[in-house]
Amino acid sequence: MTISRIRKKDCGKLAALHGRAFSKGWSAMELARLVSEPGMAALVSNAPDPDGFILVRVMMDEAEILTLATDPDHRRAGIGRALLTQALMDCARSGAKRVLLEVSRSNAIAIQLYASTGFHETGIRKAYYADGNDALVMEKALGE
Ligand SMILES: CC(C)(COP(=O)(O)OP(=O)(O)OC[C@H]1O[C@@H](n2cnc3c(N)ncnc32)[C@H](O)[C@@H]1OP(=O)(O)O)[C@@H](O)C(=O)NCCC(=O)NCCS
Repeated sequence: MTISRIRKKDCGKLAALHGRAFSKGWSAMELARLVSEPGMAALVSNAPDPDGFILVRVMMDEAEILTLATDPDHRRAGIGRALLTQALMDCARSGAKRVLLEVSRSNAIAIQLYASTGFHETGIRKAYYADGNDALVMEKALGE
């Protein structure tokens, strides 16, 4: 598996991948804009035929995971964990002391991945998602 920084030319394929992983997709343009934001850790696996990606925004000593997705045809092969692990290392190198994320209470697989990576639940946002599901807020201190 190779993990590299997302380039603009990856964004079309990544938008399609994102659309297969989530009910609400992002356009290639939206993705390209996010990727070029300052402080964004944006990683892709196995470009130029990507099978997963992660976006993490680092602001001062705090980072927020914006999205993590593995192509449905390539799941349970360690891609999600590898992207998350590399992104957390990049965030720590950029000065982040803690990482936050929101995940749907109904997303048991992602919750399991985050919990096994050292994230713990710190809050709930009621009916946060369009489908009425609550969001769990999870957090991990870096350097733990
Ligand atoms: C969550 C997601 C990124 C995991 O990607 P993945 O590449 O399949 O994950 P990995 O193979 O690295 O597995 C990592 C861990 O996730 C958990 N996991 C993954 N698939 C699972 C499954 N089918 N059942 C239970 N746990 C599972 C396990 O803890 C696994 O670790 P293990 O294999 O050591 O037991 C992927 O399922 C996905 O894209 N889901 C849709 C988008 C999404 O929900 N993103 C997160 C939103 S915050």
